[in-house]
Amino acid sequence: MNYPLLLVTSENHIATIIINRPDKLNALNMDVIAQLGACMQQLESDADIRAIILTGSGEKAFVAGADISEFAHFNVEQGRTLAAKGQKTLFDVVENLRTPVIAAVNGFALGGGLELAMSCHIRVASDNARMGLPEVSLGVIPGYGGTQRLPLLIGRGRANELITTAQMLKAQPACDAGLVNYVVPQEGLLNKCKEIALKIAANSPTAVGYALQAVNAGFDSSQNGFNEEVELFGKAFGTADFKEGTTAFLEKRKPNFKGE
Ligand code: COA
Repeated sequence: MNYPLLLVTSENHIATIIINRPDKLNALNMDVIAQLGACMQQLESDADIRAIILTGSGEKAFVAGADISEFAHFNVEQGRTLAAKGQKTLFDVVENLRTPVIAAVNGFALGGGLELAMSCHIRVASDNARMGLPEVSLGVIPGYGGTQRLPLLIGRGRANELITTAQMLKAQPACDAGLVNYVVPQEGLLNKCKEIALKIAANSPTAVGYALQAVNAGFDSSQNGFNEEVELFGKAFGTADFKEGTTAFLEKRKPNFKGE
């Protein structure tokens, strides 16, 4: 499949996706959203890929938001469809991917850009990163899950303040609030993400996928996370990775996981 707006590479079981619209600070237009959603699904079905790093091209922005020029003239129904389609084709896809996605936040992550980072499983920021949901300054609200995912990550009070003031958080306060896991100098950002990705890649890809599924179930009001954990825990016992992992431990050797 061809993704003209993305740069996709892979090495050592780790895929890296770079959103490549630097002249527009990697703003998410409909083409980027469609390509990114399809690319994520393709990488998930690739048995060789065990972790994905997502970042933006250039040194200024991860993603500076949804493409404002694309929706400035939209009516009520078009606005509704934009949010619904984006959530379904990209943001929910990323969050529910079996393969962990690490957002390398290398600059501005605003609006849809922060929403994209928040749909990823892990976030690492460079020290020049700025994060916020400025939608109310444009007369709209976050539409790609921002009102739901931000309170889960930083708490309702802090999320209410960030959303209603439309202010940006610098990298270190964002880290202190739990929005990102680490802050590193920009030149070390991808290496830090790779370090995390390599640790993930050493584990059972099947079990990693089940674990993410169980975590997500706890945040889905239609599911019981504890029951889902029990089911997936049991299901793991039927996998080749479980046999390999336990056998390797007993034989005092490193496991050689293959995934499903
Ligand atoms: N949608 C569409 N285009 C965008 C964009 C967005 N969300 N964010 C940036 N761009 C474009 C600018 O229009 C400009 O294009 P141009 O050179 O053709 O005029 C280009 O990217 C560079 O942006 P610019 O504003 O000149 O850079 P800056 O360094 O002065 O400011 C920001 C950087 C991020 C502060 C500023 O671009 C901004 O506020 N962007 C919008 C953020 C936002 O509200 N996002 C939420 C959308 S719902």
